[in-house]
Amino acid sequence: MLKLQPGELDPSQQTIITVIGRKGSGKSKLARYIAGSYPHDQVVLDLHGVDRPAELGVKDSGYVEIGEVPAKWPERLRPEGKPLVLYYRPDAGSPTLLEDMDQAAGLAYAHGRCMFLCHEAGELFRVHKTPPMSRRAMSQGRGRKVSMLLLAHRPHNLDPMVLVQSDVVICFEVPNPRDRDLIADGIGWPPEDFRLALAELPTYGYLLFDRRTPPPADGEQDMRLTSWEPLTAEELREVVRGPVPELQ
Ligand SMILES: Nc1ncnc2c1ncn2[C@@H]1O[C@H](COP(=O)(O)OP(=O)(O)OP(=O)(O)O)[C@@H](O)[C@H]1O
Ligand SMILES: [Mg+2]
Repeated sequence: MLKLQPGELDPSQQTIITVIGRKGSGKSKLARYIAGSYPHDQVVLDLHGVDRPAELGVKDSGYVEIGEVPAKWPERLRPEGKPLVLYYRPDAGSPTLLEDMDQAAGLAYAHGRCMFLCHEAGELFRVHKTPPMSRRAMSQGRGRKVSMLLLAHRPHNLDPMVLVQSDVVICFEVPNPRDRDLIADGIGWPPEDFRLALAELPTYGYLLFDRRTPPPADGEQDMRLTSWEPLTAEELREVVRGPVPELQ
């Protein structure tokens, strides 16, 4: 059987990855880097509109901005043989904002075998307020192979089911001690250990907890929580560059 590296996505299965960290800590860049190697379709929800992929302007890149969430998967938008990445920035002033965002999760669920990337998951998966389609995608998305990359600043107002259901929890800088304890609690890690590991991180470095990794046998090192260096300048460029436009 193929062994997954910590945090690696297996596109043939559902993987839920939650990324937590203060504003500007590097969540979105890392999420886009991870999503860049995902080979199937994606739905990207970007409430603040600061994570527009460069590919959006490139003809036949497969990246398409949608003004509203279509009722059916817009297969006609797919350039032949390429994955389709639907980018959606909802109108933050819409009285139906939560429903609008929920539709995006619903589209990913209905489509199946795709990735739902939500840059502001704190707005969609709010404690006791997660709307129905997002709830369904999270609790029943396994059979449909709907992977998720969910990014949030703080864990305190995040629906507890998010940490419970996550296969992978990535943690950037988290200044608030109570937040750190909440995350440690969510992944079942000793809080003091977790705090120390976070304190040792370089800027833009992160901790990665992988629930799919088996707990250590006696005398073995626990590989479920690992510490990662920041994305390199080259990896960051990969995120923002977009594809080279094809010559006509
Ligand atoms: N590995 C890195 N090395 C150097 N700079 C980085 C790195 N990762 C992110 N940055 C810088 O930090 C800025 C913020 O990163 P990013 O948008 O990923 O943060 P975020 O956690 O998503 O923030 P927000 O909470 O506001 O959405 C980026 O514009 C980028 O310039
Ligand atoms: Mg972000």
